[in-house]
Amino acid sequence: MKGIILAGGTGSRLHPLTIGVSKQLLPVYDKPMIYYPLATLMQGGIREVMVITAPEDADAFYRLLGDGTQWGMALDYAVQPAPTGIAESFLIAREFLDGEGCTLILGDNLFHGWGLSDLLQKTFVGATGATVFAQEVHDPERYGVVTFDEQGTATSIVEKPDQPGSNWAVTGLYAYDHRVVSYAESLRPSARGELEITAINQIYLDHGELNVSKFGRGMAWLDTGTFDSMVAASEFVRVLEQRQSTKIGCVEETAWRMGWISDDQLVALAQPLLKSGYGDFLVNLVS
Ligand code: DAU
Repeated sequence: MKGIILAGGTGSRLHPLTIGVSKQLLPVYDKPMIYYPLATLMQGGIREVMVITAPEDADAFYRLLGDGTQWGMALDYAVQPAPTGIAESFLIAREFLDGEGCTLILGDNLFHGWGLSDLLQKTFVGATGATVFAQEVHDPERYGVVTFDEQGTATSIVEKPDQPGSNWAVTGLYAYDHRVVSYAESLRPSARGELEITAINQIYLDHGELNVSKFGRGMAWLDTGTFDSMVAASEFVRVLEQRQSTKIGCVEETAWRMGWISDDQLVALAQPLLKSGYGDFLVNLVS
């Protein structure tokens, strides 16, 4: 399956931080934010990824991520002229997808938890219909919200409802079969002028083909939408990394663990990163 990272938008909720630099390039502790969703796709076994950015940020993303071959991947790039909706991703990526399904992840969503890699690989391989991942939150009105019947089947999905029918928020990670492009073509802009991802999910729900996978307590889904939540995400990563001598969202390590690069390649990737200590971590993985 192919992947899309949507990393556009104006980042206006983080101004002035994001006036000169894209939100998804801001640091979350020791890495640029986009490393985390990229590593999540990689853990799901996805090696072909399109990164969609705002036009003015395209060069910076390419400078950071390159063509992906250094990680045994293929990265493509496209721009979204204006932030006119998450579902526009599928129209922008139409040729890249070439009739295949895809996984979409928002470039500002950070996931960490036990079993995530297995869960993603099971979900992404040969999936039909759509799968969204939901987590219980205390402030569901900020998100897409899904409700369930007594059998646990999804019954409704609503974008930022005033009166949420449940506490289950839809996270920014979605898997779709090949029909997603034609469904996106059928959308019209919402009242706020966007092609809504929730409208795509509604179409799958109407067809009885929306699978909602609930994340349990062992899964952390972190928000980076405000100054405070950005600091909290950094602090979460810092505490876990220092306590466990590990790294979260480390794309080089993930490529190596997936078997996409060799020991020697990992050590070579570490060389320009030695001064910050990040490279030492990579070298130690091999030894
Ligand atoms: O984070 C999960 C939530 O993401 C879902 O629960 C909602 O259903 C979904 O609509 C979305 O809500 P947000 O309010 O977080 O969406 P936001 O407009 O902040 O966009 C999320 C990211 O996608 C952000 O990093 C900017 C990027 N984006 C967004 C739009 C609308 C783009 O790159 N282009 C766009 O056109």
